[in-house]
Formats: sequence, C-alpha cells, structure tokens
Amino acid sequence: MTLSSTLYDRVRTVIPAIEWPVFADDIEAILDLKRQRNAVILAHNYQTPEIFHCVADIVGDSLALAHKAMTVEADIIVLAGVHFMAETAKLLNPQKTVLIPDLRAGCSLADSITAEDIRLLRQRYPGVPVVTYVNTSAEVKAESDICCTSGNAKAVVESLGVPQVIMLPDEYLAQNIAAQTEVQIISWKGHCEVHERFTPADIRQLREDHPGVTVLAHPECPPEVVAEADFSGSTAAMSDYVGRQKPPRVMLMTECSMSDNIAVEHPEVEFIRPCNLCPHMKRITLANIRTALEQNRHVVTIEPEIAGRARLAVERMLAV
Ligand code: 13P
Ligand code: SF4
Repeated sequence: MTLSSTLYDRVRTVIPAIEWPVFADDIEAILDLKRQRNAVILAHNYQTPEIFHCVADIVGDSLALAHKAMTVEADIIVLAGVHFMAETAKLLNPQKTVLIPDLRAGCSLADSITAEDIRLLRQRYPGVPVVTYVNTSAEVKAESDICCTSGNAKAVVESLGVPQVIMLPDEYLAQNIAAQTEVQIISWKGHCEVHERFTPADIRQLREDHPGVTVLAHPECPPEVVAEADFSGSTAAMSDYVGRQKPPRVMLMTECSMSDNIAVEHPEVEFIRPCNLCPHMKRITLANIRTALEQNRHVVTIEPEIAGRARLAVERMLAV
C-alpha cells in the first residue's frame, strides 16, 4: 500500500475518491518538506480534513494549540489556522520561526477592536480588569490583563476574584459566560461572522426535520441559540462530547469542517451539517502550506515591546 492510499483510508468517508488525486501530490511534498526543514504543522479544528487528518502534527482548539505551541521543539511551526493563532504561537515560543500560509487569514472578532479602544474602556471603567479573548491581535492582548479562550473563559473570569470584569471583544461569548457566573460582565460589540448567523429558528426547524438530534453550539453563537442547544462548548469540548456521549445523531452549530473532522473518528454517529464557512480559515490550503514551507513564508513577527506585554496576558491565562 502506498503512503497516499494509507492516508486516503483515514479520510475516505469525507473526501470523495475523485478529489483525492488533487491533494495527494501536495500531501507527499508537505510530509517531505516537514522532515527536511524540521517543521511541525499545528492545525485548528476548522481546517479541512486533508489538512487536519493528513499533514497536521498537532490539532485542537485555540487553547490546546496555544499550550502545545509552547513546547514545540522543531525549528518551524506552520500555523494552519488564522493569524491570531499564529501570533499566539509566536508569543509562547519566540525562538521558533512561525509561518502563516496566507496573511489574509484574519478573524471578524480580531478586526472588531483596537488597542486604543481598550485604553478608552479603561478610562471609562477605572480599575476593572480586562479579559481578552485570544481572537485578537497582539496589540490588543498587550493592553489586557489576561486572555481567555472559549474553553476556559468562565474559569479565567472567576480566577480574578473581582465582582466585575470587562470581557471583549465577543459580545455573545461574554453574554453566554455571564449566564454561568456571578461576576458582572461588561462586553464589547464584536461578533464572529460565522456563528452570529445561526438562529434559534434554525435549530427548531432542524429538530423537526431530524427527530432525536443532539444539538451542540459554540459559545460564539448568540445566547438564544445556545439556550436552544443541548450543550455548548469550545470546538474541543464539542469534539469530546461526541466521543464521550456518542449521540446517534448530532448537529454542530459551528464551522463546516468541524463535523467532517470528527465524523472521520466516529463513523457510527450521523452528522447533520447546518454549518457556516469561515472564509478566513478557508484561506489555508495544502497548496499554500506547501509554498509556506518551500519559501519560508509568511514569517510572523511581533514588535518586542508589544510581545512582552501580550505574552504576559497569555501566560496568565495558561496559569489558570
Ligand atoms: P475554539 O477556541 O473553540 O477552537 O474557537 C476558535 C474559533 O475561532 C471559533 O470560531
Ligand atoms: Fe474568527 Fe469566527 Fe472565523 Fe473563528 S470562525 S476565526 S471567530 S471569524
């Protein structure tokens, strides 16, 4: 059996055979380049299955990727995800070369707030700590007291031991966490362009069409959507839920590739896919991962003064 056919076996349930030849050449080249250049690929759960299952060394949610980036020993980290994830990897492992295959892989949440906005918020709410979602630029992290992800937001907010926090930029994540804690949360008006599109009516319709379905929603969804779901958690928490509970039918209110990636490991579970695409995550392809490794691009850099302060906010989060 060739390497290519062994790899195809992993993803045959989610990639039609006719599409595989388009991927096989890039996959083999990437596996070679990783060896030659002593590189590893970190891939977010929203990457397409040929990246997630065939070339990635480490996969996970934002929190897991941050944790694992810290201990990478290879010389090069290719971040198959969006720009803020690459910056976080660079902050936590500054000696390594971190590459992002397409600089346009941004995030609507990261674009919704600037460092200056935080300085103004601090004037308006003196003494109130700022908890910043990792889906932000390094400049914004540098103005923050501590970061959080969707996987640890409640624990981070409660770790501060204060009655009130500013939590930004995701208004819906802030509202979803506020519903689970006594801490009063001041939020910002940022939204994820993927998750804000789901509605409670979508869930009701899908429950009618697919009786008995278990609905999982990412906490970037509006609170009314989370309220209609059976479970809400980070991308890793949703994946763990499916692995643990093995619901016969499941529906993930999140980015499209998530269901494909989990379905590969759980062929017994039926996935209903009312997904929305993240155009930023989809900027990353096998072709540009290959070019990134061949041409050493695009190297992620962060100004040292900003990096020092941003790193503190991320490290405080990881210590929680
Ligand atoms: P997770 O931290 O849950 O992986 O989410 C990251 C993200 O960008 C979700 O839209
Ligand atoms: Fe940003 Fe939403 Fe895309 Fe995640 S899914 S990277 S939050 S735009």
